[in-house]
Amino acid sequence: MTFCARCGTSTEGGGHGECEARLALEPPRHCVDCGRRMVVKVTPLSWTARCSRHGLIGPEARDDLLDRDARHVWHPYAPMPSPVPPYVVDSAAGVRLHLRDGRELIDGMSSWWAAIHGYRHPALDAAATDQLGRMAHVMFGGLTHEPAVALATRLAEMAPGEIDRVFLCDSGSVSVEVAIKLALQYWAARGRPGKHRLLALRGGYHGDTFAAMSVCDPVDGMHHLFSEVLPQQSFLPRPPGGVGRALDEQWVDEATATFAMQADKLAAVVAEPVVQGAGGMHFYDPGYVAVLRRLCDEHDVLLILDEIATGFGRTGHLFATLAAGVAPDIMCVGKALTGGYLSLAATMTTGHVAETVSSGAAGALLHGPTFMGNPLACAVASANLDLLTGRDWQADVRDIEKRLAAGLEPARELPGVADVRVLGAIGVVQTTRPVDVAAATRAAVERGVWLRPFRDLVYTMPPYVCSADDVDCIADAVVAAAAAGTG
Ligand SMILES: Cc1ncc(COP(=O)(O)O)c(C=O)c1O
Repeated sequence: MTFCARCGTSTEGGGHGECEARLALEPPRHCVDCGRRMVVKVTPLSWTARCSRHGLIGPEARDDLLDRDARHVWHPYAPMPSPVPPYVVDSAAGVRLHLRDGRELIDGMSSWWAAIHGYRHPALDAAATDQLGRMAHVMFGGLTHEPAVALATRLAEMAPGEIDRVFLCDSGSVSVEVAIKLALQYWAARGRPGKHRLLALRGGYHGDTFAAMSVCDPVDGMHHLFSEVLPQQSFLPRPPGGVGRALDEQWVDEATATFAMQADKLAAVVAEPVVQGAGGMHFYDPGYVAVLRRLCDEHDVLLILDEIATGFGRTGHLFATLAAGVAPDIMCVGKALTGGYLSLAATMTTGHVAETVSSGAAGALLHGPTFMGNPLACAVASANLDLLTGRDWQADVRDIEKRLAAGLEPARELPGVADVRVLGAIGVVQTTRPVDVAAATRAAVERGVWLRPFRDLVYTMPPYVCSADDVDCIADAVVAAAAAGTG
């Protein structure tokens, strides 16, 4: 049986959808959080309902914030208003979210893979506070400042190969836009404007802006809805799954043939190295990244690696491309860059690409967001990179990997589970059909863990600073969520 997430009444028998009105008139019979039957008291003017686990609710007890949220706030990938009310977070500290209703949840998502050092970290709080005392922001055109220069210098030192030029921008999607623009301007500057097509991997995800969408998976992504307006790109099959397996010769042959046929039109290859994240939590061997590098070199095509999800240690390497022993021409980073504190990303490239673009007819890279190089975000990012490199993060990620591998093992026995895989600090349970997200989330929340399953995936990307007990608890919740979400 399922229950309306707004009013808790059973959705059996249809006729549903006016929960708002029903909630005012008619008491729910089941708790929205756990589905338990509630004790309901109806008075002439009102009602209350009590869940033995989650306490009292009723028109008076409802949180006005959720009403305002439903009226005015659009949530990601959600209709307006969202049919499922969000959980209200009042604060967060360490790896825990503190909900308004008093519950504490370990964040198994690291705030969409960004909060690698957890919340309210003293060093990151101090960096933000200190920078606030100087300036929160200043325009970047014609001006510069220590936080941006320090961060760019730091990123240049960390980046693979010859990458040492840094364009700071607002978000991952924008950094992909900038990477694509760089590639197009590069070929225009070299007198070959016909090289403007991109070659991407099926199953990829690179963001929600238009050029980024054009290189997302053409079937599962949002492509089909916008197909009339998106630039037409080329795609290779996603490399077969599994790290450490022999390369699939058929895939290599197809990639080789595609380069041979299309190189004259290709500006760049765009790929998430080793882990395709939002496109399906697909892990593939670094050897395929090396193949892409070789083919790009042989055919004079740029290689753009999107390390927005994989960068800063998530796969066990500082950047996933290092597992392949190669470096891209252009690299995007974001997400964990500020430890999840503020929105910031970077598009990085080599001196050769930067100088070529700058020598073109335009005489400049044609991009410059208002909040470019935001000092507050840059200061926090530098403190975050200090934290990362100042601790044995590889050991932390290795420990998480081991614990997740052991903790997720029982999921293999579940009837609705197709695959269980772990790489670095990423643990994934893939199911045989789409997960009932509400049921899976409820099961995780009951175990004190925040997870956000999608499609056929229940997964975790925990903060690197989780204790062993926290990781075990997260793994247990992933298994429970997979069971509940497929049950
Ligand atoms: C690999 C990859 N590229 C790009 C993006 C887009 O980043 P943002 O959400 O910061 O725009 C994401 C976000 O999930 C991502 O995982």
